[in-house]
Amino acid sequence: MKGYYFDHAASSWPKPPQVTEAMVKWLESNGANPGRGSHQSAMEAARTIYRCRVSLAELFGIANPNDISFTANATEALNIAIKGFLHQGDHVISTGLEHNSVRRPLEWMRQEKQVSITYVPADKQGRIQLDQVEKAFHANTKLLVCSHASNLLGSILPVEKLAEMCKARGVRLLVDAAQTAGAYPIDVRSMGIDMLAFPGHKGLLGPQGTGGLYLHPEVEVEPLFHGGTGSRSEETSQPKTRPDRYEAGTRNTVGIVGLDQGIRYIMQETVAVIREKESRMIRILMEGLQDLNGVSCLGPPVGEERTSIVAFTVEAKDPAEVAHQLDRNYNIAVRAGYHCTPLGHQTAGTLGTGAIRASIGYFTTIDEIEYLLHAMREITRKS
Ligand code: ALA
Repeated sequence: MKGYYFDHAASSWPKPPQVTEAMVKWLESNGANPGRGSHQSAMEAARTIYRCRVSLAELFGIANPNDISFTANATEALNIAIKGFLHQGDHVISTGLEHNSVRRPLEWMRQEKQVSITYVPADKQGRIQLDQVEKAFHANTKLLVCSHASNLLGSILPVEKLAEMCKARGVRLLVDAAQTAGAYPIDVRSMGIDMLAFPGHKGLLGPQGTGGLYLHPEVEVEPLFHGGTGSRSEETSQPKTRPDRYEAGTRNTVGIVGLDQGIRYIMQETVAVIREKESRMIRILMEGLQDLNGVSCLGPPVGEERTSIVAFTVEAKDPAEVAHQLDRNYNIAVRAGYHCTPLGHQTAGTLGTGAIRASIGYFTTIDEIEYLLHAMREITRKS
């Protein structure tokens, strides 16, 4: 469906042509199950998956590609990490910016495993204070889990500083890179990230149904899923070796083929160039929106770092109605509502109303941004 697409933070589109081409080629030439046989097609499928692991390792500064497990999305990766790392009675620190993909597994752990949680509050612009994080550590704190960037406010969290605080106390750091992987530099070694959950279908430009989890070699996480891995089949327990430990069942080979092409495209363009272009474009969009009658943008002010999203409200207008008008009258796709982050809305002060979110990608053009601003100008002019 063609149109004006401003929902890249939910799923990026379009993808680089090589993503689609490689997936079609793969489906036409090989449909074998990776690692489940020793015939040539199965071996080729396994090699193909490994190539994507290598690409991811290169992109994220990961020493051993086998420390990356493929999942269906970031939510699955977060569930594996949170439920497999924490134990009964542990304490975990998180933030007032989290998506339900962090919050719901944490709350499940509170309910079922008596894990205690401290959500460090953020200010309205989505910044957290390090001294408040400092105060949140307890003797039984085992994990700090946070988004790299808020999917509502676009603010970016000081991951390196959080990592230093965690390291000094023997606490592990799990980062939800749903909004940054591929669009913002991430190097797990230099940033001190112990666990990284990422989707394949957003900034990494791969298809939906792809994602992954990086685990530091010394971090032990109990697997969430048990089953066939094509390895150590005579044993009744899940293999200890990675990535098999976390990859029970057939992987999404064709999706991973596409993901690999998305990552290669990013590395060829470079994350720095992608980031620079998206920052410039989101600034233009934000400045344009702020000039409109009754429009208030959420998150950090212009000039401060933010991801490629801008969420906003329009005085006396229901966000869902504005999104509907954009869609039906202008063929513009934005996301409205709560964006799966009631915590973020509580922080932003928009829990009662929700917000409209426009998010851009590397292929968004200035003409598309101007068209969205034109549409919003007309909508805000009408009563
Ligand atoms: N987490 C995605 C979003 O924020 C789906 O839109």
